[in-house]
Amino acid sequence: MKKIIGSALAIAVASLLMTGCGGESKQVIRLSHSQIETHPDHLGALAFKQVVESKLGDKFEVQIFPNATLGANEKVLELIKQGSVQYLVVSTANIESFDKLYAIFSIPYLFTSESAFEKFITDPAILEQLSVNSAKTGFEPVAAFTAGTRNFYSKTPIKSVADLKGKKFRVQAGPVNVAMMQAFGAAATPMSFGEVYSALQQSVIDGAENNELALTDQKHGEITKFFSYDMHQMCPDMLVASNAFLTKLSADERKVFDEAAQAAQKAEFAAWHDSIAKAKAKAQEMGVQFIEVDVNEFRNKVLPLHEQILGETPDLKKLYDEASAANAAAAK
Ligand code: GCU
Repeated sequence: MKKIIGSALAIAVASLLMTGCGGESKQVIRLSHSQIETHPDHLGALAFKQVVESKLGDKFEVQIFPNATLGANEKVLELIKQGSVQYLVVSTANIESFDKLYAIFSIPYLFTSESAFEKFITDPAILEQLSVNSAKTGFEPVAAFTAGTRNFYSKTPIKSVADLKGKKFRVQAGPVNVAMMQAFGAAATPMSFGEVYSALQQSVIDGAENNELALTDQKHGEITKFFSYDMHQMCPDMLVASNAFLTKLSADERKVFDEAAQAAQKAEFAAWHDSIAKAKAKAQEMGVQFIEVDVNEFRNKVLPLHEQILGETPDLKKLYDEASAANAAAAK
């Protein structure tokens, strides 16, 4: 409740500041994300702001809210629906409950390489397919950011699947994540990103799973000293836009906002691999050990889920086949 009031207040203050300046009435565009200001998602947001304001600065001002200051993604999605927040960077796992198509990215080991994943998520035809239900969901995906590979990290080393047994791991929301952890023989504890640090600290969970940046940016590496490269998922962060906002734009304005989304994607990708290398080095200084595991052992354990998920959600089949094609093309 406090958080909701906090978000509403932040928005109200921001609006007052804008309209209070000499009566100009620029429209404030709020872009929310849950990362710190050095994270590639934030650099993407800055590129977005730059394009919008350089081309339409007389009409719009983009305000970026990092660190989930407007609230956790689940809450901000409601504001996106209402149109009081216009853009949000959100993991596909968080929007699965609005549209099952996004569950494609929760399928463990969907992609066989990071390059296949990157090619897939930057393909405009894929974004178009993910947009089909946007009138219903209230938001449209306008760009996809890479978020690397998700891996287990914990207080005790995970060297094989057996080491996961009976352990509690924080996962992102969504039934596929829960099924995945069950298949691994562990227990899933879904919770918001911002709650993970204290859950680790208080031993509510034994570990979590994410890319390397969680160790440093979110300081999880202060508590969990073992990070295993099992590479179970690649989920993008989507830049989604409020439909209520998009439908009010003129065609020319829409063109600029789409161009800004593309610039954001480019800037995010450009920063990604370097950020990961730096995070890894920093985590090692924090005392985190990086463990190479037999990825095939992990993969084989959860592979039966592919058929199960496609059986339960046949709408995913087309995207699944396209992901397989991207894997084959990247392997050439
Ligand atoms: C990554 C991802 C976020 C997501 C987070 C999580 O950091 O970039 O969008 O929210 O993982 O695990 O919740």
